[in-house]
Amino acid sequence: MDLSITVNGIKFPNPFLLGSGPPGTNARVLAKSFDAGWGGAVAKTVSLESSKVVNVVPRYGKLRSRENNEVIGFENIELISDRPIEVWLEEFRQVKKDYPNNILIASIMEEYTRERWQELTRLVQDTGVDAFELNFSCPHGMTERKMGSEMGEHPDLCEEVTSWVTEVAKIPVWAKMTPNITNITEPSLAAVRGGAAGISAINTILSVIGVNLDTLRPMPTVEGHTVPGGFSAQAVKPIALRMVSQLGLGLPEGITISGIGGIENSHDAIEFMLLGASTVQICTGVMLQGVKMVDELQAGLAKFMTDKGFNSVQEIVGKSLPYFSTHMELVKMMKEAKRHKAGEAARDNEWAQKDITEKTAELTSN
Ligand SMILES: Cc1cc2nc3c(=O)[nH]c(=O)nc-3n(C[C@H](O)[C@H](O)[C@H](O)COP(=O)(O)O)c2cc1C
Repeated sequence: MDLSITVNGIKFPNPFLLGSGPPGTNARVLAKSFDAGWGGAVAKTVSLESSKVVNVVPRYGKLRSRENNEVIGFENIELISDRPIEVWLEEFRQVKKDYPNNILIASIMEEYTRERWQELTRLVQDTGVDAFELNFSCPHGMTERKMGSEMGEHPDLCEEVTSWVTEVAKIPVWAKMTPNITNITEPSLAAVRGGAAGISAINTILSVIGVNLDTLRPMPTVEGHTVPGGFSAQAVKPIALRMVSQLGLGLPEGITISGIGGIENSHDAIEFMLLGASTVQICTGVMLQGVKMVDELQAGLAKFMTDKGFNSVQEIVGKSLPYFSTHMELVKMMKEAKRHKAGEAARDNEWAQKDITEKTAELTSN
């Protein structure tokens, strides 16, 4: 089945992209993912001076299910790429030469000066990458240099920096937004005013994964200390879906969304598409399952399209957005539909008559 989709004039063989991070950390892993069937990849974020990027060990922490030990959440305090820009430029060229039909998106980040952003844009653009993703959203480490989410939390900076890039970019520019903000639509609209053709959302949510009760040290622990880090994996999916739906409803016509956050299988991916994403990105899922997970993503999407009678991936995008409303409207619709029983069952004084878990199950839709 044809799973391709054209986004901002770029034809993606399928909507599944590696999210920026360890899965796209050098040319070898990018090549391996394209061989496995990924439609595209956002490479690990690059900057002009890799020597300023010093990572710590350990830098990951897992949140496990109380029931079966499954990893349901993941914290990282990893920085952007610590590999020299010259090496990256060569690798971008090589990957595009070897995989002309797969879409390679360069994630870029710089300090707050026009010269640096424009120099980085020009250097990377010359390698033949298909699009840019501006990292306005890394929530830890880089913020101490006023980079990453320091920009994404301030709409005026999003607009200004995006406009610096779009002044020299001849390829589409996406802005990747932080969820560590009250209303993600505001800085996203600012990036659009600066010339962004698309919004990627979400980056990680600021978190502390836990505290070791033996040592009393918060984790991940580096020389006895820590910093809050970015939370990802399945636990963040509901928050990411909410933010993507807000973007789906709030962005101007034609501005595209790349959905990210806790996607682990085709079911999750399709949910993001139904709420407005035309591509989806997966980072932690690939770290935990490996690049082969794309087989299930493709098969699951194809089956969903057949089962539901969709003729193209584009037809799925935003299909569930009309079903958002306000609480007041829900009440009105409920009354209008004369769902007398449901209406009565929702009264608060009924809670005392039943076991609380039974009552919770009764009022839950899935
Ligand atoms: C270890 C790790 C490193 C990451 N590095 C980057 C990065 O360099 N640039 C970036 O834009 N996002 C980075 N991210 C964020 C992911 O691309 C993604 O936005 C986030 O993890 C949520 O998606 P997920 O649940 O599929 O991982 C990183 C995430 C993880 C877990």
